[in-house]
Amino acid sequence: MENQEKPATKFFQDDVDNYKKEFYDSGYRTFMSVRLGRFLDEIDKLNLPPDAKCLDAGCGPGYLTKGLCDRGFQTSSLDSSPEMLRLTTELLGNIPADRELEIVEGDIENLPFEDNQFDLATSAGVIEYLASDTKVLGEFHRTLKPGGYLVLSSTHKYSPIGMFEPIIESIKRTDTIRNICNSILENLGGTPVRPRDFHVRKHSMKEFRGNIEQADFEIITAGFFYALPWPHPFDRVFPKVSAALGKLIETTNRTPLKYTFEGIYIVARKKGGQPL
Ligand SMILES: C[S@@+](CC[C@H](N)C(=O)[O-])C[C@H]1O[C@@H](n2cnc3c(N)ncnc32)[C@H](O)[C@@H]1O
Repeated sequence: MENQEKPATKFFQDDVDNYKKEFYDSGYRTFMSVRLGRFLDEIDKLNLPPDAKCLDAGCGPGYLTKGLCDRGFQTSSLDSSPEMLRLTTELLGNIPADRELEIVEGDIENLPFEDNQFDLATSAGVIEYLASDTKVLGEFHRTLKPGGYLVLSSTHKYSPIGMFEPIIESIKRTDTIRNICNSILENLGGTPVRPRDFHVRKHSMKEFRGNIEQADFEIITAGFFYALPWPHPFDRVFPKVSAALGKLIETTNRTPLKYTFEGIYIVARKKGGQPL
C-alpha cells in the first residue's frame, strides 16, 4: 500500500493544523507536549558533540526538530505527510541559515538516507502507527553510526485510561454524541474530535525493550511519561484539574504506579563503535 493511502498516514495528513493547535499550541499539558519535554531532557543527557547529525523521523509539526536545531545539531527531518512538512517548514522558518537542516518527504520504513550516518535518530509517536516494529528498527539501525543513539516512544498498552479507548472511539462514531461533544469543545476554544479508522499498535514496556534489543541495540534508559486522571477528550473539558491531577500522579514515577502512565520511551545505543 502506498504511504498516502495508509489510514494512519491519511488521518494525520487530513487534520494537521488541528493536531498542532490542539497538542502543542493550545497551552494545555498534552501527551505530545510532555513527550517533547522528556525527549529533549534525555537528548541533553547524551552530551552529543556540537556537530552531531540527527534524524527526527515522523517529525509531524516539527517541534522536536526545532529542539534539535536549537541545540545546534545538523538535522534531517522526515515525514510522509506533505502537510506536516509544511508546518515543520513554517515553524523552522527562522532557524539561522548557518544551521544545517533538511526537511524530507519519505517513509520511515524505507529511509532515504545512506548507511551509518546519524549520531542520533529520534522518533516520537510514530512506531505505534506502523504495521510492525521490524522494518523501522532495521532502518534506524542501518542509518545510525555504530554507537549512535536512538530515542523512541510508543503508546503504553497497559494504561488503564487507554483501555477506555474502544468505548471512546465507538462514542466518537455516534454522530449525535460527537456533534454535541464537538460543539462543547469548540465553545471552549478546543478542536473537534474525530473517530479513528485504524488500530494503534500499543506496546508493553517488555515488548518494546525486547524488539529494540532484538534489533541489535543496547538499552540505556527506559521510562514512562504522562498520566491522565480520565480519558481524552475529557481532559480538555477540565484542563486545569486534569493537568494538576496528571502531574500529581506522575510524581509516582519511581513506583509501580508508573505502569499506569500513557506513554513509554527508550533511549538505546546501536551496538559497536565507541560512545559518542
Ligand atoms: C502522532 S504524529 C507524531 C508527530 C511528531 N513526531 C510529534 O511528536 O508531534 C505521527 C506522525 O508520523 C507520521 N507518519 C506516519 N506514518 C509514517 C511513515 N510511514 N513514514 C513517515 N512518517 C509517518 C505522520 O504523518 C505524523 O506526522
